[in-house]
Amino acid sequence: MPVDATAPERLAMYNTSRLKIGLFGPNCSSGRAVTMAPERWSGSWPDNLKLAQMADAAGIDFLLPIARWKGYGGDTDYQGETLETLTWASGLLASTKRITVFGTVHAPLFNPVIAAKEIVTADHIGQGRMGLNLVVGWNEGEFEMFGVEQREHEKRYEFAQEWLDVVKMIWSPKQDFDFDGHYLKLKGIRCKPKPVGDSRPLIMNAGASATGRAFAVKNCDAFFLQASRVSAEETAGFVKKARELAKEHDREIGVYTVGVVTCRRTQKEAEEYHRHTIIENADFSAIDSILAMKNITPQTKGMEEFERQRRFYANGMGGLPVVGDADFVAKTLADLSAAGVTGIGISLINYLDELPFFCDEVLPRLERLGLRERRRQAQYA
Ligand SMILES: Cc1cc2nc3c(=O)[nH]c(=O)nc-3n(C[C@H](O)[C@H](O)[C@H](O)COP(=O)(O)O)c2cc1C
Repeated sequence: MPVDATAPERLAMYNTSRLKIGLFGPNCSSGRAVTMAPERWSGSWPDNLKLAQMADAAGIDFLLPIARWKGYGGDTDYQGETLETLTWASGLLASTKRITVFGTVHAPLFNPVIAAKEIVTADHIGQGRMGLNLVVGWNEGEFEMFGVEQREHEKRYEFAQEWLDVVKMIWSPKQDFDFDGHYLKLKGIRCKPKPVGDSRPLIMNAGASATGRAFAVKNCDAFFLQASRVSAEETAGFVKKARELAKEHDREIGVYTVGVVTCRRTQKEAEEYHRHTIIENADFSAIDSILAMKNITPQTKGMEEFERQRRFYANGMGGLPVVGDADFVAKTLADLSAAGVTGIGISLINYLDELPFFCDEVLPRLERLGLRERRRQAQYA
């Protein structure tokens, strides 16, 4: 197996479903909903474990955590309690059988030799089901806590390139080698064992800038992009561009997106619940602090745009809102698939409460459309 290739089974997450579905953000308190609603997600280990086992039995394809080191404050201290993602993934891989679990690593905060080793260990625990979400970081306050200075944007990705090159070499059959980069100078690198099955773990990235996107398509198996809120046609255009960019590097990539799903028996019920959690009970003080970190203020953007962004961020910090009954949710997901999307990481307000309905109602509809293999076991809830 060449240094930079992984096995097709890993890429397919060991199933034939054309549209992969994962859960995004459950390792953080409140998940991805900046809400004060009391039933919001705890992010606790017992809830994560129950959720992972439920998702595994229901045939959900992957779990994607968020690497967050400090909460965003506000009335709920949004994402204030988070479980570190590599140790979280290891525990969940030991407790599940089929689901792929990602760990999310900030390249500048983790020594690559240690990260490569931790991921290999998790990969052995999960027998080839570990994935890596590589991020370069954007939150200055978090970096200060580590005493690490955030590089300017372009340099973050230059560093990440070296970091990932060396990690891939560590996972390859290579042994006892030096790495002499601009940022990283490492001597006599040795790592045994290698990842499971002589192929490396799945790697994803979600860079949004031109540099981030270029990095993702050049180096990763899965690229996460923001789906259009306007139309599936627009999303199809984004996907096409990403795939063309990958082709320039002679690569094929999976293109994923993220969504925030509110699925209820009726459209009205879904809309009411969405209003209750995301509009009436939004934690606006947390949202404003997130926006300030991204330099989105009434002064920089104007009041109208600022208000639009506040609504946007309340709902999953930017994921595609999918609010409706099971027919609507299934159709929206099918449209994304038709737009060329390989998979979607969804979040729910309370993942444990809401996942059974999603699996009972939405998954069978996607199966009937030929988009998903039936993987549900009789008893999963
Ligand atoms: C699905 C997804 C997962 C992400 N996970 C994290 C994360 O866990 N930690 C983090 O600091 N950034 C995370 N990000 C942010 C991206 O890695 C990236 O920094 C951001 O989209 C800005 O892009 P840029 O780095 O190209 O400017 C995530 C983004 C997406 C869409």
